[in-house]
Amino acid sequence: MPAHVRIHEVGPRDGLQNEPGVIAVADKVALIDLLSRSGLRDIEVGSFVSPKWVPQMADSDQVLAGLTPQAGVRYAVLVPNMRGWEGFLAARRTDMTTDIAVFISASEGFSQSNLNCGITESVARLRPVVQAAEDAGVTVRGYVSCVTDCPFDGPTAPDAVARAVEMLRDLAPMQVSLGDTIGKGTPERVTAMLKAVRDVAPATDLAGHFHDTGGLALANIGASLDLGLRAFDTAVGGLGGCPYAPGAPGNVATEAVLALLDRLGYETGVDADVIAQAAQMAKGMR
Ligand code: HMG
Ligand code: MG
Repeated sequence: MPAHVRIHEVGPRDGLQNEPGVIAVADKVALIDLLSRSGLRDIEVGSFVSPKWVPQMADSDQVLAGLTPQAGVRYAVLVPNMRGWEGFLAARRTDMTTDIAVFISASEGFSQSNLNCGITESVARLRPVVQAAEDAGVTVRGYVSCVTDCPFDGPTAPDAVARAVEMLRDLAPMQVSLGDTIGKGTPERVTAMLKAVRDVAPATDLAGHFHDTGGLALANIGASLDLGLRAFDTAVGGLGGCPYAPGAPGNVATEAVLALLDRLGYETGVDADVIAQAAQMAKGMR
């Protein structure tokens, strides 16, 4: 049987958060509902962050309300602090599984830019969020940004990434997605980073999150597969970027990753034809 790779679709969040124009709730809902019929098991659909910081995600409560839940699909939203947790709780639906994702940076510069505080403080803010999620039976996923490079601090030391992963997993057991936020990573540097991170977390608890600035996202996924990672974040149509990471282009495209994995003999359970339709829809939103 071919090895399974789990695809986390992040286009409706990591992709659309960066779009300057207004995107109607109905269009977001239509995209997510189509994606949910592709066989994807994980779809990140919004963020309960400050609307002043990321206006495009201000309607995430309405997006959740508008979705048609698909059995077997886990939806997810970003939550940065207790205010976001309360927003999530108010919008949470009993008829669908919604996970939360918490996020920190491996670099101080990006932490300040993205969260308005340093790394240690960002983790302290997450402690009550993770506790509340645990009490409410909500699954938490973690993100570490800038795992190879920071737009403000330059290259990130592999040990700094390992420390950030440990800080998250000291809060609670969780899968951690490793973000090459500005897409400057190379397979060699990704390999060095992953080797450091594997000393503190098993590869099965890690995901790769590659942006495609340097055109090396697929090569970086190849390097991650070699080190045992079997989960990757992708964005349909290559939507993406990060409003607080100057120069960050799209996330690696879901359709390109599916084609790569197919070529390499991995199985995802995702229907490439439905993803192609969704990619067309996503491109029409830009
Ligand atoms: P702050 O200004 O320091 O927060 O921002 P604050 O606690 O001082 O609050 C200021 C105001 O914001 C207050 O309102 C709060 O109520 C409000 P006011 O009194 O001024 O009217 N506020 C909120 N409103 C709604 N929801 C909330 C919330 N929190 C405070 N949750 C904060 C700190 C964390 C809020 C801000 O920096 C923020 O929202 N940052 C999020 C930035 C973001 O979403 N970035 C993109 C996602 S990360 C990413 O894309 C990387 C990733 O893809 C991986 C990778 O590629 O590396 C995950
Ligand atoms: Mg990202």
